[in-house]
Amino acid sequence: MTPLEIAPGAVHVPGWLDMAEQRELVAACREWARGPVPIRHTVLPRGGVMSVQTVCVGWHWQPYRYTRTAGDVNGERVADFPGWMGDLGRRALTAAYGEPGDYTPDTALINFYDGDARMGMHQDKDEKSDAPVVSLSIGDSCLFRFGNTETRSRPYTDLRLDSGDLFVFGGPSRFAFHGVPKVYPGTGNPETGLSSGRLNITMRVTGLT
Ligand code: SIN
Ligand code: FE2
Repeated sequence: MTPLEIAPGAVHVPGWLDMAEQRELVAACREWARGPVPIRHTVLPRGGVMSVQTVCVGWHWQPYRYTRTAGDVNGERVADFPGWMGDLGRRALTAAYGEPGDYTPDTALINFYDGDARMGMHQDKDEKSDAPVVSLSIGDSCLFRFGNTETRSRPYTDLRLDSGDLFVFGGPSRFAFHGVPKVYPGTGNPETGLSSGRLNITMRVTGLT
């Protein structure tokens, strides 16, 4: 539970979510995965397919913009961003930085990683806001690579994100490159409600209306 500063503005809080909270998040994500916009592998503009599966709430992300409706899936409007998730986001900021500020996330991207899924180094830069990103991990552990704002290569810090961990990146680290080079299958606790795989939830402020 002790916050670890990985880089200025980037804070890792191991074991932040208790088992009951993880179970509730898994149940909520499982429901969103069914619809109104079902979870799927995002297709990239040049035809590649992401290995993670993604479902969004509040705003629908597709490379490289946010919309209310999922034109690249089934045209439906995504589920509303729930008030309780905003509260969770403010609690996360308090855990990471000591105070919640005026944090009002309006979207969450929910990514499911099976044992072979990865996420390449990228910046979260489709938001029109520099408010922090709150990341929650549940299920299998992963190798998380947190880099710098200039290049997708070194210097970076490799850390392990376990089930229940919080990672917040804001301030000078808001636009740092980051990625998930590896998931460690079989490391999760089925008590979370996830029998395999890794769930990651990132809350963001889109800056859109
Ligand atoms: C992301 O960068 O959007 C996801 C990061 C993660 O899965 O931990
Ligand atoms: Fe990201």
